[in-house]
Amino acid sequence: MQGNKARSVVSILDLSTDEINNLMNVADEIDKNPEKYQDKCKHKILSTIFFEPSTRTRLSFEAAMLSLGGSVISTPDSSSSSAAKGESISDTVQVISNYAHIIAMRHPKEGAPVVAAMKASVPVINAGDGGHFHPTQTLADLLTIRRTKGSLSGLTIGLCGDLMFGRTVHSLIEAMLRYSDNKYIFISPNELRLPEYMRDSLNKSGVEWEETSSLEYAVPKLDILYMTRVQKERFFNEEDYVRLKDTYILDEEKLSTAKKDLAILHPLPRVNEISTAVDNDPRAKYFYQTLCGKQMRMALIMMLLGIK
Ligand code: NCD
Repeated sequence: MQGNKARSVVSILDLSTDEINNLMNVADEIDKNPEKYQDKCKHKILSTIFFEPSTRTRLSFEAAMLSLGGSVISTPDSSSSSAAKGESISDTVQVISNYAHIIAMRHPKEGAPVVAAMKASVPVINAGDGGHFHPTQTLADLLTIRRTKGSLSGLTIGLCGDLMFGRTVHSLIEAMLRYSDNKYIFISPNELRLPEYMRDSLNKSGVEWEETSSLEYAVPKLDILYMTRVQKERFFNEEDYVRLKDTYILDEEKLSTAKKDLAILHPLPRVNEISTAVDNDPRAKYFYQTLCGKQMRMALIMMLLGIK
């Protein structure tokens, strides 16, 4: 429904730092004055195509579009879409480009959204591709950090859990590297350490970072603790998953040495890695994070559709 030069967001690096900061400012405006935005996307259609399970990301996109006065068309899940009949991503997005003004897509194959963005004539937003990237989760994370810590600089950030396959981790690191004076502590079992390309990014940027397998060691040093789930669907065998899944469980006892103003984030879904008792701790920000996610997706949809 647009010309051929639609701008897509596949990686967080597709957005400049100024654009990210501006999206956060718009999200803050949306928070203060939601009614000012309720008709911004009137007569616009978002299509959500998810080839992998998702609850909050898809609903968050859909809620974002509906809160902007737009409409949503969606396939309930990949088994009921034509992909199940063998249709290529390229064909799917060319068809959807005639039905919707913007597409949010999740796919188990890394790089699938790049193909989609090349072939679609409307903007494509990557809502997660395999173990690769998840830029809109990162927008949610950044806004949560800025709102809870007042800044995106000068922080010690701990990322814990599945750092190998955790796409939210990879995107968040790429984004945080653009803000100054942050230190990183990566907490994972040996088998789930950060992939090589992420280590390269860290080394190239010259930031201070360290790895540990001990959550207890890291906790007292942190301003932000980003917990992640060990992702069953990315494992080749069940045994490894079972062995590693409960390596880290954050509970009130482990938090006893933490800073009073620590912010605990998690992209959700949570399995066992944060005890539900922590939910009542004022440092738990993971449910608030989902509100930030919706507001950032609203800001991003408007930006990609050229709506002020
Ligand atoms: C994450 C994802 O899908 O990558 N969740 C999300 O988008 N909210 C993390 C996860 O699935 O563990």
